[in-house]
Amino acid sequence: MEKSKLRSTNWFGRKGKDGFIYRAWMKNQGIPADMFEGKPVIGICNTWSELTPCNAHFRDLAESVKKGVLESGGFPVEFPVMSLGETLIKPTAMLYRNLVSMDVEESIRANPIDGVVLLCGCDKTTPSLVMGACSVDIPTLVISGGPMLKGHWKGKDIGTSDVWRFDVAHKLGQISNEEFIEAEACMARTQGHCAVMGTASTMAVMVEALGLSLPNNASIPAADARRKVLSQLSGRRIVDMVKEELTLSKILTRKAFENAIMINAAIGGSTNFVIHLLAIAGRIGVDLNIDDFDEFSQRIPLLVNIQPSGENYMEDLYYSGGLPALIKEMKSIIHNDALTVNGKTMGENCARAEVYDRNIISTMQEPFKPESGIVVVKGNLAPNGAVIKPSAASPSLLKHTGKAVVFENIEDYQARIDDPNLAIDANSIMVLKNVGPKGYPGMAEVGNMALPKKLLVQGVTDMVRISDGRMSGTGFGTVVLHVSPEAAAGGNIGLVQNGDLINLDAHNRTLHLEVSDSELASRKKAWKQSEKMHSRGYVHLYQTHVEQAHLGADMDFLKGGSGSMVSRDSH
Ligand code: FES
Repeated sequence: MEKSKLRSTNWFGRKGKDGFIYRAWMKNQGIPADMFEGKPVIGICNTWSELTPCNAHFRDLAESVKKGVLESGGFPVEFPVMSLGETLIKPTAMLYRNLVSMDVEESIRANPIDGVVLLCGCDKTTPSLVMGACSVDIPTLVISGGPMLKGHWKGKDIGTSDVWRFDVAHKLGQISNEEFIEAEACMARTQGHCAVMGTASTMAVMVEALGLSLPNNASIPAADARRKVLSQLSGRRIVDMVKEELTLSKILTRKAFENAIMINAAIGGSTNFVIHLLAIAGRIGVDLNIDDFDEFSQRIPLLVNIQPSGENYMEDLYYSGGLPALIKEMKSIIHNDALTVNGKTMGENCARAEVYDRNIISTMQEPFKPESGIVVVKGNLAPNGAVIKPSAASPSLLKHTGKAVVFENIEDYQARIDDPNLAIDANSIMVLKNVGPKGYPGMAEVGNMALPKKLLVQGVTDMVRISDGRMSGTGFGTVVLHVSPEAAAGGNIGLVQNGDLINLDAHNRTLHLEVSDSELASRKKAWKQSEKMHSRGYVHLYQTHVEQAHLGADMDFLKGGSGSMVSRDSH
């Protein structure tokens, strides 16, 4: 790219008072004048925060990126954006995904940045940054923070999916309070994001599958020195991407999205993948809909043996050959010609990869489970669709009819779930309303409701659960999620009553409430909005504009992009 074409020239290449101001206030950081002379300016968009423990090591990664940028003749500038720590942010990090995407979009466009590196880790930090960058569409490269090393407790490997098991064991008195607390430090023992195929790992796989990162980004552990090497190499590469004008939209084609869906199926990725990929597609202008997830997942079995669908951890995937080795196994079905950030195709990147452990990455012919991916079910209970992850469900419950036990909202569930008088048995279907995008608001990760204690003591380990909310990627069970339209938007899930029969048939993609149309119409007439609609601030903006889950839960006015041009450029 010619120097004059760099965006940053509109700032640092200016003559007169404006140029003076743009340069002078950078020089107060001790930056020599030649840094502004036609060098690609690389923004490093950092979600470092001590309130986002999964991303707390990102200052180190940013330093490695800077080294690489300088080595390639670029000028690195690090900038912060709002960071979403899944564990601490209330009411749910998802409420703020779209807000962060706005922060990222406006920060990139408003500043003298020619290319950007996105430092992503904890769940929502990845989609929010990618969404924001898509709406600007300059050369962009993603680096994930990497997974934690697996935990060890009482001679066993442990990870985030064990939290659900520990909770049940603790409730049943099988482990003591002291043991429960001891396990905390044994599980989260290194830097990095959750070590299983939860949402953060799924997002890291997603960006590599989309071609937005260098190979092996998804699985190098956060604590492994090679994560820093990858960051430095990424810093070198983004400078070349600017020179090649390799923008996001050249990589994020329909083929890239189809690859991501197929690879997500093979890894048993989180259901949150659906909602985030739809939102990213909406920003970059690729036509993708919820049915594509079912269509492109259908032929893909589970090829990776990692929790919660399998038994192992993300570091095991790296030691077994990493994502390139898995993608090579899938070469007969994926789009090998999809372009990636290093300028090579997906097929070229994976050509030399090898599988070192068949207990972690299987062949297509002998998979770990025959059914994987995301199944989209539809019916009068979810006219626009709902999703279920068969690899994390009980096969015997994928076709099931049961009587509804209804919880009006999460507080109602919490108040009554362990009531000894609750009329519920192992065949019941638990229905949780008002945890969708508008209703909660922010679509909480509460869909895998813990089972009632009185059934747990009987040895019941799974039941069908249905909600308009989401589930943590580390969760498991026969859980139908993302019901659309949600209860708070007038969806039929809001009309379900205790004792109604519900029929789930994941094999035939149906979810039916066995209540007549006339009865549903009369219930709808009597329906009243029960959830609080906020009248001020960001939450008001969100509730007014958020779209339903089957569209990606982005805000209607954020779809698409506005490019990288600044509307007015005089002080
Ligand atoms: Fe951050 Fe799991 S809590 S990735």
